[in-house]
Amino acid sequence: MQLSIIGCGYLGAVHAAAMAELGHTVVGVDVDAHKVAELAAGRAPFFEPGLPEILRSAVASGRLRFSTAMADASAAEVHFLAVGTPQQAGTDAADLSYVDAAFDGLIPHLAPGSLVVGKSTVPVGTAARLAGLLAERAPEASLAWNPEFLREGFAVKDTLQPDRLVYGVAGGAGDAVGRAQAATLDQVYRAAIEAGTPRIVTDYATAELVKVSANAFLATKISFINAMSDIAEATGADVTALADAIGHDARIGRRFLNAGIGFGGGCLPKDIRAFAARAEELGRGEALAFLREMDAINLRQRQRVVDAAVGALGGSAFNRRIAILGVTFKPDSDDVRDSPALDVAVQLKGLGADVIVTDPEGIENARRRHPQLAYTSSTAEALRGAELVVLATEWSEFRALDPAEASALVARPSIIDGRNVLDPARWRAAGWTYRGIGRP
Ligand code: UDX
Repeated sequence: MQLSIIGCGYLGAVHAAAMAELGHTVVGVDVDAHKVAELAAGRAPFFEPGLPEILRSAVASGRLRFSTAMADASAAEVHFLAVGTPQQAGTDAADLSYVDAAFDGLIPHLAPGSLVVGKSTVPVGTAARLAGLLAERAPEASLAWNPEFLREGFAVKDTLQPDRLVYGVAGGAGDAVGRAQAATLDQVYRAAIEAGTPRIVTDYATAELVKVSANAFLATKISFINAMSDIAEATGADVTALADAIGHDARIGRRFLNAGIGFGGGCLPKDIRAFAARAEELGRGEALAFLREMDAINLRQRQRVVDAAVGALGGSAFNRRIAILGVTFKPDSDDVRDSPALDVAVQLKGLGADVIVTDPEGIENARRRHPQLAYTSSTAEALRGAELVVLATEWSEFRALDPAEASALVARPSIIDGRNVLDPARWRAAGWTYRGIGRP
């Protein structure tokens, strides 16, 4: 099929490359000329395992090209909207200006019968509003909403082999137009459908809500276990053993129950805020008031790590050398958006600490935002002379650190395991003062 992808960030660039990999002919459109040039040369503008390979092969095959001109999308039968919906400055609501601008720009280029498919995470009600605009300005085209659930670090796999496909179609599953839209999307995703991927065809509002409620649930799971870690700390219990034990209950499940410094990234934090803000607009703020609490628990985890660091240094971080291992919001990503690790580093620096940060992929992005921090690409260099080590992002190279080798580098063998990924017994046996999150 002929597809266009409007917006070539994390979501759009991966979607474009993955759709071309499936055999479709794809044009990716973005307003950022530099990004377009990089992608057109087969280079991924961000770190995502597996993306450079499919990008290069798709560009070389001629099935994938990139452009800054919306007119280049005009040949496509299906147009995916994949622009960002960041948090609005000064409020918790989502900023829809990119969605609106992309939609506006696309309308004059829509051929009769073409399908516009929203993938961006939007406040419920957005699809119905855009469908109304389409009916006025391009009545022969139609709109569907097809939320994306990809995780950074697994984005290629999540796009090619999704857990589920959700189509929000015009009029819902029972409507003739909606059924035709679903059939078109089935063609786009034929490979996944043939592999047995579950597919839910529903109305716009449900599709929009599926995405934000999934993220709200995941955020709640993490904040729940982080709240337990606080109680564990007050009682001498071990939150890791607790998570293992409750995780054996299939109704609960062990995944997303890792206590630590908390969640960050370009999705969970802003999505739960935007969802709560939308509920307030709908007069249902009380229903999602708990999400404000999840956000507060999450932010408190960062403060707990900062407080623990100050405590570990005997009450003041001033002029004390602290090594921060990891700065991205999670491993296998170079993304530092709303990263708890970066936040902790900045807070400790603000307390006068001599902070040195290391990360396998995130240094450039972190330096751009916080040039006041010192960075090194070498873990050994970061550890050298440190009076305290904070493991803030669980990259495999940090999990695999040898406590004996590390203790030969530091000034004081004291570590805060902000992700509960190290073996406390092994680190203590090597002479370290080990502190986890909610572990005795
Ligand atoms: C998330 C959703 O998982 C994905 O489905 C959605 O499409 C976009 O948002 P992503 O932002 O890539 O994906 O990150 P995710 O893997 O969900 O991790 C989010 C944050 O939670 C990270 O900071 C991670 O470190 C943290 N986390 C995750 C925990 O603190 N504990 C856990 O047990 C799991």
